[in-house]
Amino acid sequence: MSSLDDLYRRVIMDHYQKPRNKGKIDDDSGLVINLNNPTCGDSISLSLKVEDGIVVDAKFIGEGCSISMSSASMMTEAVKGKPEEEAIRLITIFSDMMQGKEPDDSVDLGDIEALQGVCKFPARIKCATLAWKALEQGIKKSDDKSNE
Ligand code: FES
Repeated sequence: MSSLDDLYRRVIMDHYQKPRNKGKIDDDSGLVINLNNPTCGDSISLSLKVEDGIVVDAKFIGEGCSISMSSASMMTEAVKGKPEEEAIRLITIFSDMMQGKEPDDSVDLGDIEALQGVCKFPARIKCATLAWKALEQGIKKSDDKSNE
């Protein structure tokens, strides 16, 4: 194993063992998106609060493998406090990354970079993308809500 793979593995395990933003948004102002991975039954419940085009809060609870739970932890950390457009951009970058495309150098992916290697394991891609799909649905729902 290269030292980079080893570093990435450690970053993934750190998020798995000490998940960031674990829980539910307490007030009723947020949205909740529940998704599961049909191939294994693992699940995520993402609470999202988008106000004036900013993702002001993101929390998750779920059951799943280290890849799915660490990806959820990294995702909430990356989008919290960011403008919605930036979150959408990250969703696209992450999806491209899972298809084996090199991430754009101009974007600081932070810990998300550690999931790059997942694209080599097709069975795990669904694990890594679960939280991001929930985010995508949450942003869409919040846009629909604000357009009502
Ligand atoms: Fe179920 Fe990864 S094995 S989410």
